[in-house]
Amino acid sequence: MKFFIDTANLDQIKEAQDLGVLDGVTTNPSLMAKEGITGEDNIKKHYQAICEIVTGDVSAEVIATDYDNIIKEGEELAALHDQIVVKVPMIKDGIKAIRYFSQKGIKTNCTLVFSAGQALLAAKAGATYVSPFIGRLDDISTDGLNLIAEIRQIYDNYAFETEILAASVRHTMHVIDCAKIGADVMTGPLSSIEGLLKHPLTDIGLEKFLADYKKGNQ
Ligand code: E4P
Repeated sequence: MKFFIDTANLDQIKEAQDLGVLDGVTTNPSLMAKEGITGEDNIKKHYQAICEIVTGDVSAEVIATDYDNIIKEGEELAALHDQIVVKVPMIKDGIKAIRYFSQKGIKTNCTLVFSAGQALLAAKAGATYVSPFIGRLDDISTDGLNLIAEIRQIYDNYAFETEILAASVRHTMHVIDCAKIGADVMTGPLSSIEGLLKHPLTDIGLEKFLADYKKGNQ
């Protein structure tokens, strides 16, 4: 399972990269705004800065919602760096654009996916990644993990190559459950990855090992 970090914060991206287990980054317009990154040039420079930190795929989302402008914006984003994956919303023109990008060899991430039918369509269009938002489904009393399981089954039935990128991951149990179901990738905050480190028996055990070593090596 690949680990992506879902942020536009360069310090957090560096911290995750230093841990040595990071496979990529996802961003979205809200995450860019949270970091105060505004204006086309600054946004492009920021994507390039992220690509300099990590070695894997970096999702950069288009703002356009009509076919011609999604293509224009997506091609500009893809030209920024070979790690850029063009993130396209799950709308009719988005699906058409994903087909176009896929034929041109440009990687895509179909975002804002909330149903198995949408995920099927994204795979048919040739998306590199599909992003079901599990946290946002949980937020409205719908089982986000069940959606991951449904998509896994459909993609396996037909050997679709589109990777299931479990998005809107909010905590560590989401990461573990997505791994059990067989999501190809998860994207979440740094805390969801760091939570995997934690176990009280590890802390107690280490404390005892160090104390015993100290007793015998005074
Ligand atoms: C996915 O690529 C999105 O950026 C993200 O995971 C959304 O997460 P949120 O629901 O926590 O905003």
